[in-house]
Amino acid sequence: MQTLSLDIPGKQYPIIIDQQAFHVADIRDRLKASKIMLVSDDHVAPLYLEPLRTEFSDYEVHECVIGAGEKHKNSDSWQKILNALAENGFTRNDALVAVGGGIICDITGFAAASWMRGVDFVQVPTSLLAQIDASVGGKTGVNHAAGKNLIGAFHQPQAVLINIATLQTLPPREFNAGIGEAIKYAGINQPEFYTWLQDNRLAVKQQDQAAMQHLIAECCRFKAEIVRDDEKEQGMRALLNLGHTFGHAIENVSDYRYLHGEAVALGLVMAADLSERLGHAALGLKQQFIDLIEAFDLPCILPDKYTSDAIINAMRLDKKVHSGQHRLILMRGMGDAFIAEVIPEAVIAESIDACREGEKS
Ligand SMILES: NC(=O)c1ccc[n+]([C@@H]2O[C@H](COP(=O)([O-])OP(=O)(O)OC[C@H]3O[C@@H](n4cnc5c(N)ncnc54)[C@H](O)[C@@H]3O)[C@@H](O)[C@H]2O)c1
Ligand SMILES: [Zn+2]
Repeated sequence: MQTLSLDIPGKQYPIIIDQQAFHVADIRDRLKASKIMLVSDDHVAPLYLEPLRTEFSDYEVHECVIGAGEKHKNSDSWQKILNALAENGFTRNDALVAVGGGIICDITGFAAASWMRGVDFVQVPTSLLAQIDASVGGKTGVNHAAGKNLIGAFHQPQAVLINIATLQTLPPREFNAGIGEAIKYAGINQPEFYTWLQDNRLAVKQQDQAAMQHLIAECCRFKAEIVRDDEKEQGMRALLNLGHTFGHAIENVSDYRYLHGEAVALGLVMAADLSERLGHAALGLKQQFIDLIEAFDLPCILPDKYTSDAIINAMRLDKKVHSGQHRLILMRGMGDAFIAEVIPEAVIAESIDACREGEKS
């Protein structure tokens, strides 16, 4: 067991990482609620709600299960959770527990942020992506038809409980998507993590225990440091969006056929291409991303049907477009990301089209 601490002004909470336990008893003092609402989706609920009901048996336990998948990350699911809270008389002194992937973490957090103007919640992330990113840092929300995560709030959990053994039931495609999100940390400010991922890619693919413990703890530490310094995304936290403006647009135009982590992987390749194209980074950066992304069977090629026009249109709706100007996270090299302002759309289109079949990087 390993415990990290996320420290932000006025709030501190533990991230407990274990090979096979949830460690609910260890947060008993932090969670003063009398009622608990376990929130999960219909893939994860049959696997993990039973053991968690037992773990939370000190509390009056209720459950709310919503549909799995990005299409359910919407205000209907959020409303369903609020209805369950209302029906069971949840007060400001009660709490929610998210049990699932990043979607459940985000929706449950947003329900906790909005119920009675904010109640406690705990993250129990069960996908790799949620364990290394979505469960940490207090960004919560749901999608709007106009785009990803357009409705939301900052609301920090009381604790994050990571049981790595839950990954054994995660479908391989979802596991790889989680790696797509992990690779972004290498691009942001962790060049040695790129080397570690390259050197340990077989161990990671085989889910070797020591490798997974290292990978998850390192990513949580990277994220916790960034969130500590900029909780509300006034500055540096925006770097966590590396690959995401492209990625969100790809999710949107593909009607969520790409998983979030897959779209981010493609977005990283595009961001690297654009960094080279604008002269910020030396040639070779894009290939470094492609090497790692291909090693984890993640996409590097964008089908022609998703045109650059459609993607740029979707990018205009992203929260990172300021006063009509594209503002993207680019890199000067591996581990050296920065916020780039006023990028011409024609060059963005070139970087999107450089990720087509037959294009040489
Ligand atoms: N709040 C943040 O800071 C933040 C950061 C990154 C991503 N996100 C969000 O996270 C979401 C993506 O998260 P995700 O990739 O975890 O998607 P997800 O929540 O859809 O989970 C992936 C899939 O795996 C299933 N699953 C999860 N754990 C499982 C397990 N242990 N065994 C079997 N099946 C399991 C889920 O039911 C789902 O079908 C996106 O909506 C993204 O916007 C948020
Ligand atoms: Zn992400």
